This record gives sequence, C-alpha cells and structure tokens, in this order.
Amino acid sequence: MQKTTTQLLENPELLGVESQKTLKRLSSSLKTTAKDSWNELQLRLEQQLPVLLELYLSLYGDHYDCYYQLEQLLKILAKSSAQRPEYLRQQDNEPQNWHKTSHALGAACYVDLFAKDFQGLTQRIPYLKQSGINYLHLMPLFKAPEPNSDGGYAVSDYRSTMPKLGSMQQLAELMQQLHQQGIKPVLDFVFNHTSDEHRWAEKAKAGDAEYRDFYFFLTEQERDQFAPSLREIFPEIRRGCFTQDKSSGLWIWTTFNSFQWDLNYANPAVFNAMAEEMLFLANQGASVLRLDALAFVWKQAGTNCENLPQAHTLIKAFNAVARIAAPALQFKSEAIVHPDEVVKYIAPEECQLSYNPLLMALLWESLATRKTSLLTESLRKRFAIDPHCSWVNYIRCHDDIGWTFDDNIAWQLGINPDHHRQFLNQFYTGQFAGSFASGVPFQQNPVTGDCRVAGMLASLAGVEKAEIDKNPTHLQHALQRIYLLNAVILSIGGLPLLYMGDELGLKNDYSYLLDPAKKDDSRWVNRVAVTDKQLAQATTTDSLSGQIYQQLQQLIQTRASLPVLGSGTTEILQDHNPHLFIYQRQLDDKRLVAVVNFSEHPQHCESLSGPLWFDELTVQKLPAGPLQLLPYQVLWLSPRPE
Ligand code: GLC
Ligand code: GLC
Repeated sequence: MQKTTTQLLENPELLGVESQKTLKRLSSSLKTTAKDSWNELQLRLEQQLPVLLELYLSLYGDHYDCYYQLEQLLKILAKSSAQRPEYLRQQDNEPQNWHKTSHALGAACYVDLFAKDFQGLTQRIPYLKQSGINYLHLMPLFKAPEPNSDGGYAVSDYRSTMPKLGSMQQLAELMQQLHQQGIKPVLDFVFNHTSDEHRWAEKAKAGDAEYRDFYFFLTEQERDQFAPSLREIFPEIRRGCFTQDKSSGLWIWTTFNSFQWDLNYANPAVFNAMAEEMLFLANQGASVLRLDALAFVWKQAGTNCENLPQAHTLIKAFNAVARIAAPALQFKSEAIVHPDEVVKYIAPEECQLSYNPLLMALLWESLATRKTSLLTESLRKRFAIDPHCSWVNYIRCHDDIGWTFDDNIAWQLGINPDHHRQFLNQFYTGQFAGSFASGVPFQQNPVTGDCRVAGMLASLAGVEKAEIDKNPTHLQHALQRIYLLNAVILSIGGLPLLYMGDELGLKNDYSYLLDPAKKDDSRWVNRVAVTDKQLAQATTTDSLSGQIYQQLQQLIQTRASLPVLGSGTTEILQDHNPHLFIYQRQLDDKRLVAVVNFSEHPQHCESLSGPLWFDELTVQKLPAGPLQLLPYQVLWLSPRPE
C-alpha cells in the first residue's frame, strides 16, 4: 500500500524501505546516466537517500508532483556525478578535515582587484603560497548585470564568468592548479536570489508561468501579508523588500537590491535547478561553497522570514545532495544574524564552516571601548560548536560591520544595546571625539536609526587617521591593533580568513564616490585593488605595508608550529582586569593560553603567574610575579616544563 508523507516522516524504517524501492526502480536508468561513477554513486545513494528523502518530503511532501521532482533530482545527481573530474573524485574518498590544522589559513579576494583576471591570479599563486595561504575564496565572478551587480552577488548565469576575468574553462583550470598547489578554492553559492537578467528571470518577465513560480510575483495584498514583519537590508537603496514588475504590476520579492530576485524554494523545481547549479560549481573544482545570505532562503507570512526552520531543512537537503554527488564539498555559512541563530547553521550535516560575525564585531567593539566584558561573555556563550566543524574567523571582509551581538548579554553587563550600537557607529565613522577610526557609514535606516560601518582594516584600526595627523604614537597604536586582531583570529580556534589587501595594511579607497554605479554603496570603500608595487613591499620592512605583512607572517609561522592552535578546544577565561581577553586552547595534553591587552596602557593579569609560562611570540620565559602586559600586547603562553 502507498504510504503517506506523514507516515514516512514518522518512521525512519519506512523511509529506508521507500528509498530502496525508489533506487531499485530507477537504478538501470541512473546507472546509464552515471557512467563509470555508478558504483560509488550507488553506494552513497544507499546511505544517503533516506536522509535526502526525509528532508525532501518535509519540504515538498504536500506538493502534487513531489515524487516526480525527486526522480528529476536523482537524475541530476547521476548526471553531475558522471561529469565530476577524476581528481575531485579522488578527494571524495578522503576525510575533509583540512581546516583543523594549525597551518590552515584562508584568504578572500576579488579576482579583478587582486590580480586583474584568472591568468593574473595564476601568477599570484607564489605570493599566496609565500603568505601561507591554503584556502582561497574567489569573490563572485559570474556573469552579472552591468554596471551594478552588488559586487557580483546578482548572478545572471552560474555557468558563465564575467568576460573580463576569462572563461569558465579558464576558471576550472585555475582551480585545478590551486588544488595542485595545495590551495582549496572557494566559490560563492548565491542561492537566495538570481539577478533579474538570469534566463529564468527573463522567462518570468515574459510571462512564462513555470518560471514565474521560480520567484515571488505577489499581488499587493499578498505582499502586505509579508511586508510588515521584514527587516530592510539596504534601506538607503530602496525602502521595503519588494520591487514592482512593470508589465504585470505585481510585486517581486527583492530582499537586497531591486535587481536581485529572491528564489521561491517552496517550489521543488527551484531546489532541483539550484542543486544542479551547485554541483556544476563543485565539479569546476570548488572545495567549499560559501552559502550566501542563507538566512533568507525560506519565507513564511507572519514571520521575519529569516532563519526559519525550513531554511535549515533546505540547507541540509543541499548538503545531502553534496554528500551523494560531490562528497569532498563543504559548505560555509554566511549568516550575519543574531548569534543564537548563527550557530544553528553549523553542523556536519548542514554547514561545516561558518563565518564568525560575533567575534568579528566584538573584537572591534573591544578595541573601541578598551573593555572586553561583552566579548568575553558573548563568546563564553557562543563559541563552542560541533568538533567536526570550524569557525571562519575574520577581521574584515568585503561587506560592512554590523553590530550583531546578543542584547540580553549587553543588558546583563549594564550596557544599553541600542545606545552602544550608536556609539560604535559613531566611533568607527570617526565622529566620536578621540576615535582612531576612519570608517564610513553604511545603510543608515531613517526609521530605526540602524546603521553599519564600512572600511579597510588599516583605516578602521587607526592608520589612516594617524598618518593624516602625523602622529607617530597613534600610528604605533594602529599597528599594534592590527597585530592584536590578527593574533586573535590566528589563535582562538578555527580557520583564520584574511581579506586580501589587509595583510599589507591597505587603506580605504574613496574613488568609488566618483563611480555612479558604486557611489551609493559605501562597502566599495573596502574593496581595494592590490598592485604589483604594493605586493613587492611585502618582502622588506622599509614600508608600513612591509612591517604589517612581516608581523603577520611571524604570527602565521608561529601558529603553524603549534598544533594546539589547529584542532582542539577553546575555553574563554575570565580575569579581574577588564581590559584583558584570555582564552585557553587545549589539544590532548597540550595547552596554550592567549592573553590579549585591549588597551593602550600596560596591564597586569592576576590570574596567571609569570614564571610558569613561556611566551611563544617573543620566544621568552616570563619573569616572576603577576603577568605584565605592554600596551596592546598579545601573549601566547605555553606552560613551562617543570
Ligand atoms: C551577502 C554578500 C553581500 C551581498 C548580499 C546579497 O551578504 O556578502 O555582499 O550584498 O549577500 O547577495
Ligand atoms: C545584512 C545581511 C547579510 C549581508 C549584509 C550585506 O547584514 O544579513 O547577509 O551580508 O547585510 O550588507
């Protein structure tokens, strides 16, 4: 007898039986499609199909064509599997724990800004290797609308690249070369939306009903069921989250820019189509896909349409697809949301990697306040994750800094969260008296007063201002802040991610203001080009860039020599001194304690006693008495042998 969706979802055994039946029925056609990959694929289907079936049914079980769509998906898996290059198939059989070592180091760059094009990037591989980088996120490089594509995050075709960078074939070759050089390539999976020039959108615009269902074309009444509870992401660009379609008068869901059309994942055909694009990218050589704006992928009236349970189910379903047809592939979550929500995306069966926006924001917060209580309390609550997964710890990226900390923790510490955010925005845009930072406001919301900050690491840390003021002490402090931030992301646990240009201390680039396609998006201030001349400065300490780079290299190399900074656990410790941030790393019987002074004054630490420790950074034993720290000093302390 045919089982209902509810019966299947309630009984794992039945799911197993149903999966077997489905496989048996389809195996000869799948085998033909999968060609020589069939044996491996069959094995994985046997293990993973019950998982995928459960997820698929919970999303689409009440759809009239659910089983038809599932079969279509299985065909996509077989086809993609057949197309997977041999070198990636070998990786599919290896454990993917490369992010768990103390030499794992990531970087992110725009291909055009860092190296002009794919060929130029090939020539930059020696620089990447010399810098210790073995994970490289190539920012969106797909065909996209001109001249504004939200920095490439409006994709018109996932299988074509921007012509100025080179062809998809060249990209695939570049990625294979990166693999050969021990560098994991990372691409974006921009799956919440496509551009309005994607062929699906073009068809929808032309009135094709099948493709209209790929997006949200809503009547005013339907729109108003959703609109009141939604957050505005780019309020300076357009109020609300909807854009009116000229020909039909209907309202299209556009969470970000008006030319970024949200996909309708309630439609299984959308899931299938995007699963196919995802596997295509995996087969070009991506080791990791960065799941862009993943918090927004499921909508439900009456909610804020962020972080809904179905969004998790959906991502798990994509993950199950990857486990079957591209097992070496890992996902990185880009959830820039409340810390309690960020951690929910992190699991071996969902996203194995995740940006750590809480650490990022609160490092800047602690530098502004010179106090570490919010950082310490927040991380005590929200740093621990599944041991098979890793945080991606970063200081800056191509986006803005949003102050996404937990309001309750702030209140507990006597901090008014709204006022504090206002202070941080004022501080980092240089409007607060005595601020060291030269940042730029991003997306001020006239109604809520909400705002974020854009800027390069060096400018936010004080280099720009100190240079203008010709103040050598302030410049010294700025360099110390850069060192401090790098030292934390390199030791706190997880994969550190550098943002290319920051390793050389490049400052804000204000030329975006002259470009009509960029001037309304201040994040361009922190998307700077890196020249050959600047790269050449890395090797000597004659320039500021060289000094910043060399200090960072010293940190990277010291870290690489300390396995305890790779895998292992992190415990956030507390001390009476409000300016210190302290954490302990532990791996088997190995231990390392990092002590970080967030103030420009000397501090001492009561809870640790000098003579018991050896500082790995200065390669020195510490003197007797309570631990002394110089302004902004970071200590990486190993217990001294008895
Ligand atoms: C992500 C990207 C950001 C982009 C947005 C919409 O948050 O990092 O740059 O604007 O998604 O795709
Ligand atoms: C919001 C979104 C995030 C995006 C950013 C772009 O913070 O939550 O996904 O990266 O806006 O500015």
